[in-house]
Amino acid sequence: MPHFAAISVAPPDPILGLTEAFKADPNPNKINFGVGVYLDDKGRNTTLQVVKAAEQRLWEAEPSKNYLPIAGDAQYGELTRQLLTEGVSVPPGQASLQTPGGTGALRVVADFLAHNLDRPTVWMPGPTWPNHPKVFNTAGLPTKTYRYFDSAHNSLDFEGMLADLQNVPQGDVVLLHGCCHNPTGIDPTPAQWQQIAQVLKDRDLLGIVDIAYQGFGDGLHEDAVAVRTLLEAHVELLVCQSFSKNFGLYNERVGALHLFSSEGDSAHRALSQLKVIVRTNYSNPPAHGALVVRTILADDQLRQQWQQELAGMRARINGIRSQFAEALNAAGVGRDFSFLTRQRGMFSLTGLNLEQVDRLRREDGLYMVGNGRINVAGLTPSNLPIAVKAIARVLS
Ligand SMILES: Cc1ncc(COP(=O)(O)O)c(C=O)c1O
Repeated sequence: MPHFAAISVAPPDPILGLTEAFKADPNPNKINFGVGVYLDDKGRNTTLQVVKAAEQRLWEAEPSKNYLPIAGDAQYGELTRQLLTEGVSVPPGQASLQTPGGTGALRVVADFLAHNLDRPTVWMPGPTWPNHPKVFNTAGLPTKTYRYFDSAHNSLDFEGMLADLQNVPQGDVVLLHGCCHNPTGIDPTPAQWQQIAQVLKDRDLLGIVDIAYQGFGDGLHEDAVAVRTLLEAHVELLVCQSFSKNFGLYNERVGALHLFSSEGDSAHRALSQLKVIVRTNYSNPPAHGALVVRTILADDQLRQQWQQELAGMRARINGIRSQFAEALNAAGVGRDFSFLTRQRGMFSLTGLNLEQVDRLRREDGLYMVGNGRINVAGLTPSNLPIAVKAIARVLS
């Protein structure tokens, strides 16, 4: 009897599966609005010049491919943490680990909560990145949703969010998107973050901040306002940081996990347990991508070059948002799409329903996630009129 005969087929990943379908589509005008990858104005995902420069330096200087420590490179941990804590006084307990991408950091956090706290329920925004509940559930943690998206106005349901957070039982954990919320593109304002931080502090709730798009919204410093505000309010945090997007290092798997605790000693103990989780999972992190990031962050000239390239990506995203909203308006679609210009990062929920999404895919080769989420970076000056025409048709 074959050992695997009774195994059923798992459903394909809803977002990565979309890319497969896109690739197979012969339509020459097809547009991929699906996967969360930055594309330039010619529809290409290319390696940053600064990454090439850092790789050149590494290639010449790297003496060895020896294992990294379990928690990864210490200088990398420090430099990546500083991207979040610039100008804020940090709590006495801090620990940083280099992880395989932001997902790796999330999974280490999930295992840590399952093994070292009392299997807390993790509260996440409705909606959230679809992998969030799966990662925490797979580690054996229950998940629940707090209100976030006001679909009627395509905006933040801040009152609902605050009311739900005020009812999160003590001992539970709250997951927040650090910036450029995926999939809505809607973030709380700095003043709203202060209120959120106060609720977490008053209710003594542990926070997880997932920050995967720092620098894609309003700026590197601006996009870390959530982390800084929570730290200023003395909320204890686990921050999962991804460099897939802002360094374009998707397939190198570069991320970090930072723990901020009000007590130095507990951070020390927690780090020892986090290392046990890493050691029994992937042993120690992959080196190359993180060394690229470290090389860039540690060098004034490379760092400046990175910030310029990042600013270029941000300007394109925010520019194409305005052009898209204006073109939809000019096409007389009969709906207000101005929310696109107020949202940040690559994603927005268009408000298109499943039937319209399906038609756009079948009739126009326009691929978006079933909930109507688009990656605006899929738009280019040449395909924007095609997309607008198709959307206007399904809305008419
Ligand atoms: C909100 C959010 N968190 C985490 C990640 C994971 O990033 P990584 O590719 O670094 O694992 C993503 C990637 O799409 C994301 O959108």
